[in-house]
This record gives sequence, C-alpha cells and structure tokens, in this order.
Amino acid sequence: MAIIFEGNMFHLTTAHTLYQMGIDAFGILHHLWYGEKTDCSMQYLYNYPDVGFSGNPYEAGKLRTYSMDTLPLEYATVGNGDYRIPAAAAVHADGSCALDLRYESHKIYEGKYAIEGLPAVYADDSQAQTLEIRMRDAASGLVAVLRYGVLEASDVITRSVVFENEGAEALTLTKAHSVCLPLMDGTWDWLHFHGRHTMERQVERKELFHGIQQIGSTRGTSSHQQNPALILCEQGCTETSGLCIGAALMYSGSFQAQIEVDQLGQARMVMGIHPDQFSWKLERGARFSTPEVILSCSTQGLERLSQQFHAVIRNHVCRGSYQLSSRPVLINNWEATYFDFNEEKIFSIAKQASELGIDLMVLDDGWFGKRDDDCSGLGDWTVNEQKLKGGLAALVEKINALGMRFGLWFEPEMVSEDSDLYRAHPDWAIRIPDRDPVRSRYQLVLDLSREDVREYLYGSISSLLRENHIEYVKWDMNRSICDWNTETLPSTRQRELPHRYVLGLYELLERLTQEFPDVLFEGCSGGGGRFDAGMLYYCPQIWCSDDTDAHERTFIQYGTSFFYPVSTVGSHVSAVPNHQTGRTTSLETRGTVAMAGSFGYELDLNLLSEDEKQTVSEQVEHYRQLQSLIYNGSYHRLSDPYADGMAAWSFVSEDQACVLVQGVIYRAVPNALRRRLRLRGLHAQAHYRISGEEQVYSGSALMAGGVLLPRVMGDDVSFELYLELVKKA
Ligand code: DGJ
Repeated sequence: MAIIFEGNMFHLTTAHTLYQMGIDAFGILHHLWYGEKTDCSMQYLYNYPDVGFSGNPYEAGKLRTYSMDTLPLEYATVGNGDYRIPAAAAVHADGSCALDLRYESHKIYEGKYAIEGLPAVYADDSQAQTLEIRMRDAASGLVAVLRYGVLEASDVITRSVVFENEGAEALTLTKAHSVCLPLMDGTWDWLHFHGRHTMERQVERKELFHGIQQIGSTRGTSSHQQNPALILCEQGCTETSGLCIGAALMYSGSFQAQIEVDQLGQARMVMGIHPDQFSWKLERGARFSTPEVILSCSTQGLERLSQQFHAVIRNHVCRGSYQLSSRPVLINNWEATYFDFNEEKIFSIAKQASELGIDLMVLDDGWFGKRDDDCSGLGDWTVNEQKLKGGLAALVEKINALGMRFGLWFEPEMVSEDSDLYRAHPDWAIRIPDRDPVRSRYQLVLDLSREDVREYLYGSISSLLRENHIEYVKWDMNRSICDWNTETLPSTRQRELPHRYVLGLYELLERLTQEFPDVLFEGCSGGGGRFDAGMLYYCPQIWCSDDTDAHERTFIQYGTSFFYPVSTVGSHVSAVPNHQTGRTTSLETRGTVAMAGSFGYELDLNLLSEDEKQTVSEQVEHYRQLQSLIYNGSYHRLSDPYADGMAAWSFVSEDQACVLVQGVIYRAVPNALRRRLRLRGLHAQAHYRISGEEQVYSGSALMAGGVLLPRVMGDDVSFELYLELVKKA
C-alpha cells in the first residue's frame, strides 16, 4: 500500500521516498516529511518556542507555542495568523479575507485522480493510489480537497486542489496554488530555469535566503523567461549524491512559484497559477480545480531526479500514437525559405530530403491567407494558392509520392489585424475597449475562452486534416498575452480570463488530438516558450528553441534535460553561418547536438555539397539506429557546460549493455592532455568495448577513471563514443 492512514498520520510511500503528514488535535494538517524513507513518525523533529508576534489560534488557549505562523502547514492560507506566503486566499461575500482550513475527512482509492478540463498525470489502478483530504473553512463553508496521486514505482507524488463552495454565499478565490511544501530548514539551494526567446532554460542555482524568492510568468504562457519547474536541493547536492526535490507545474499559462525562508529558518514552497492575473468567483455549490504539480524526490542527486521526471513525463504525461514510438526524421522549411517559397521550392526541398532518407516534410509559416511576412494573414487558415499553385492536396500528394509524409504549421491562437478573420470578427481578439492593444510580431491573440472562437479553429484545422493527408501538426504561438478582456465575462470576473484562455486551449487541443490520434502534434511557442508538462500532455514533442546554433543548443538542451525527456525535445540541424548567432559549426557537430532530441533538419538541402549530402544521409541512418537507445535509455549529464568547457551526455540502455556518449568540446587547447570523461550508469563488473577500438575496459574503470576524449582541432568539435558490453562478471 502506497498510502497508509494510521494514528492520525498519512504515510505516502514511494519506492525510495516517504511523504508524511499528521492531523493535530485542532484539525490542522502538518507536513512532517518529504525525503528518504524512514519507518516512524517524524513529528519528534518539530518543537516550537513561543515566538513573539506570532499569534495563536483562539482555541489554543494558553498554548503560546502553538502558532500558525511557525507550524509546517501542509496547505497554508491567508488571514489565520500565518504571515508567510500562502497557497490560497479568498475574499468572502462580507469582504473579509480569512481562510482557516481544518481536517474534515479523507479517502484513499486505487488509481490516479483526473482533473476536469486540465491535463494531469495518468496511471492505471495498479500503478497509482490517490489520497483526498477534505479541509473545511467552517465560517465560510469553503472546502479544499487536497489531492495526492502516489505513483509508487515512479517515486512521484502529484498534487492538486479542488475548491468547493459549500457555504451560503458566493466567494472569490484570489490565490489558488496547487502545492504548498514546507521544508524543515532553509539551508538549501534551489535551481530554476530562466531565459529569453532563443535562449530558454538557462540553469541558475542559488542559496535560499531569508524572505521570499520567486519565479513566474505573467505572459499568459509558461514562457521563455522562466520555466514552470524548480528544484530544491541540499547545498552539497551533486548530480550523483544528495537530497533534492523537483516540482513541475503541469500548466501552460501564467504561473508563480515562491519560496520563503521564515523567521525560524524554515522554508516553504508554493506553486500554481499566478495570482496577479487571477481571481475566480465560486458560486454556491461551484468547484474550482487547480492544475497539477508533479513532485519527485531523489536521495541520490540531480541525475536520478531528472531520470524520475523523464520517466513520469514519458510514461504518464505524454499520450497518443507517438508517446513511446520512434518519431519521423523531419525536414522543416522555415530557416530554408522563411516566407519566400512556392510549391516548386517546397517540393524541391522535399525531393532532396527524401533522397537522403528523411521521412517527413513540414511546411512552416506562410502557406495560408495573405502571408508574405509576419504582418498579415493569421487566422485565415485557407491555402494561399498564389504560393501553392494547385492547392495543398496536390502538394501533399506529390510529397507522399516521394515516400514522404507531410506536416503543416499552424498558429491557431493568433489573428492578424490584416486578415479576413479579424475584419469579420474584430471582437474575437483579446483587447480592452477604448485602449490600443499591445501588438507583438504585429499580431493579436484570439479569445480562446469563447466557444465560437474554438469552434472556428476546430472547424478550420480539422477540415484541413481531414481533406489532406497531413500526418504532423506544428502548433505555434508567437507572443505573450496582455490586454486581458473578454465580452463573455462580466466586469467583476475579467480576471478569470487568463485561466479560461488556458482551459479553452486545452479543450481545443484535446478535441483535435483525440480526433486525430495518428497525427504527431509538435508544440512550439517561438521555440520553447511554452515547454511545460501541460503542453506535453497533448504534444509528445515541443520545438525546443528558435536558436538552432549547435553551441548555444548544448546549454538550452542541458537546462531542458533537468525535467523533460529527450524524446520531447524537437531539435534540428540548420545552415551555417547560423541564422541566430552567425556562428559556423561543422555538420557533424550540428548532427550530434540535434540527435539528442527528436531529430530533424531545417535548411535547404539542395544547397549542400555532395559530401555534405552524404553526411546527412549517414546521420539520418545513424539516428534511426540509435533512436530507441536515445529515447528509452537513461539520460546522464556528464558535464556542466557552464563550468567544464564542454557539453557531454550519455544514454545507457536499461540492461546496461549499450552506451552512447556524445558531446561537444567548446575550445581546442594546444599541447594539452586528452580530456577524461567519467561515465555513469554502467555495470561496474561488466566489460565494455568502445566501437572502433580493440581494447576492453571494465565498467568500474570507465566510471571511476573515465574514457579519454579525442584530441580536437578547432572549436565546438563534437565527439561520439558507442560502447557495448562484451562480458558480464
Ligand atoms: C516561431 C517558430 O519557433 C519557428 O520555428 C517558426 O515556425 C516561426 N515561428 C514561423 O513564424
């Protein structure tokens, strides 16, 4: 049993961790532990002094050491004498803001709860158990059901909250976070993943300080600037040792994660929808569900933590025909042509690609409406026959006749002012009456909270998918959202729109992905601006970044790897000099870096020399052979690119028999020793041969001493070693 309730305590046990809570005499739910498995109550570690200015609940009487301001509350709320960051806040009909949640009841059942209208980790009854704890604010009748999904074998615990208004009056939620996680002390580090367009998920590790530290997005999307995921770790924690806890929010809209180190040096982390643009009116009898947070804990360092997230995202978040299967190697025309193409050009790229063994031709932006640049056309999802003479179906047929599949780009959530759609429905764009809207890339955002908008998009996209043999969709989204306002809500409820937008997006994606289960949906938002577990529920891969420079990509993919499995990372070889940085790297280096993902090309292959074409064809074949190991093997970060002057990673098959080591050495240094790279995840007692070498090495030697990397000439030189087990002890 993963979940046990005994003596007023909840024990949530996974393969290697324990999560423990206790209910006290006042019905307050205490968080007691999340970490290494122990076999007793951890309550003995909590012992509070009478802290001045930390008040006491009324019924505590003279018990002045009992304060909401110091206790490790499992789900903290406002207005009850706890002055730290709350997870939830509400305004009641009388204008008061207090919430005092007390235990009412709980239930435990087999399987994993689902969340209405929102993506959530799924698992069958043999893989998960659910705990629901009902907490009630007696004065208002607001109930918060704290939900825990325990995936025992995966070392994962999910969190979500359902608010139910069982009171006599409506109330308004002003903060409704998905998780609150107390830590006994604040002497920890945290890692977060910041960035910008073309530079997503840069890793920053900082010591916690007294007070509040936070990340978030108010852009209506999870954003390039901050990824909705963080890691808390003990200060000495490394890739291979130490305690760390990861939290990934399964949500694609504005989010917030806060950590506070309080006056006693304890820490609390909360995470959920960003409250700055949020409120939700809960009528009598109404319910509100928060998005899910995936928690995982490792006592063996960051690598194990990442592997746990990779496994849960791959096996319990991603769905559809492509969830676990290999993906087609694709060619995308964006960096080859931008908007300047016609059917002949696209066909010529496809033809050359097919000759080199590439599976799928993706036609990117510019095929529809009046779209010769990014100033017009969005919303008009009818083929531009001036560019594609003969229409889409004819082009698809010709490409299919090459033995290639065909994929198409959409940016469904957007509208250009210069479009037939906007001229017909100006009210469908999100904007505030009497104010000029903020334009970004010259486009406005459609109000996806509206059913008629969703219906229009569903109709346009589904008929194109039905009428043409389209086997892949790139779902792009190219701006941050502001000017929040909708005709569908009264003025007092406008702050519901950002969340309703996300719900609308999910509804549309659900409808389309269910109706077209064999179409591969790839998410995108100017590259990786919406790279989150929410989108991965609908799209098993996401275009990782608009920066295709192999050198920069090693950093972006390094940061991405802390939470997201390689199979989710769309990664392409593009032309040199690179369009984003002007850097020239070899085709080999570009190939190696792109192979650590869902692989493809994004350049005009016709412009390559015969030698280069030969290399491409070999890369495609090589990737096909390695794809299963890359997707299913355990992923190891073997270097820190920020500190080590190189990026190095490896994939180890489950049976430890095959190991692929890849990387890029950033700078050549004269007269230097060959670099040594210590491997991980091998069978210590087994022996391995490196492809192309005669010598056999023991697993223990390769892990303790490492392999010698080739001596390189030039900058950004890639390497690849393939090891096979030759003898087990
Ligand atoms: C942004 C995407 O990230 C690119 O790959 C490309 O599809 C452009 N949008 C097209 O406008």
